Amino acid sequence: MSDLLPPSRAAAAPQPEEAAPALRVLDCPNWIYLLREFEALYRYGSAGGSKAIRGHRKRVRDRLSAVIAANAEITPRPPQTKPVTAHFARALDLGERAAMQGMARALREVREDLTWEYGYERVPKALARKYAYCEILGPQGPVQADTLVLGFVLFAPGTTYPQHSHHDIEESYISVAGAWSENNAAVYAPGSLILNTSGHEHRITTGEMDPCLLAYAWTGSRARLAAPGMKLTATRGARKG
Ligand SMILES: [Fe+2]
Repeated sequence: MSDLLPPSRAAAAPQPEEAAPALRVLDCPNWIYLLREFEALYRYGSAGGSKAIRGHRKRVRDRLSAVIAANAEITPRPPQTKPVTAHFARALDLGERAAMQGMARALREVREDLTWEYGYERVPKALARKYAYCEILGPQGPVQADTLVLGFVLFAPGTTYPQHSHHDIEESYISVAGAWSENNAAVYAPGSLILNTSGHEHRITTGEMDPCLLAYAWTGSRARLAAPGMKLTATRGARKG
C-alpha cells in the first residue's frame, strides 16, 4: 500500500510536458506597432518619381503585409548590446523630435529586447566601437520571415562605414535620426530613403556631433537572406576601417 499514491497526490504527479504554443506577432503589441510603422513608411512615403524605388517600396510592403496577415511566429533572441549602443538613447531622443518620431517611439518600446550585432566575421577594430545593427524581422527573427529582413543600424558620431555591396539583395535605408552621406553624394536627413540595388558599392559617413540611426529593409531570395555573406570591399578605405 505504501507505494500507492493517494488519489489527490496521483492527480498532482508530473505529467509529460506539453509544447508551449508558439508566440505570435499579434500577441506582442510592441512588435506589431513597430512593424506597422515600417508598413506605413513603405506604403505612404513618396518614391520621388523613381520607378525603381516605387517597385522596391511595393516589394517591401507586400512581403511585410503577408507576414502580419499570417500572424508570424516570434522567436525571441537573447538581448545583446555593443559599444555603440551607448549612443542609442540619444539617437532615439533625436528621432522623436524629427520626421520619424512614430518609428523612434515604437523602437523605444522594444529597446530592451534588441540583439545588437556585427554583420561581418571580421570587423575592423575601429568600426567595432562605432557601429552595430539589430534585426527585428527576418530568417533569424525575432519576427520570422524568409523573403524580407527589417532592422536598424546605429552609428556613433563621426563614423565611416567602409565600402561594401550586397549581392542579390536590394537594400533601402531610411534615416531615423542624425545626418549621413552615402558615397559623398548628398546629406540625408530623417525621413530620407536611399535604395542600394544588388552589387551597388556604397560607403557611409555620419555627422560629427550626433549619432545616426537608420532603418533598413532587405528583399531577396530565401537562400540569399538566410546567408547574406556580408563582406567589406577590399579598398584602402576599408582597410583603414
Ligand atoms: Fe549596405
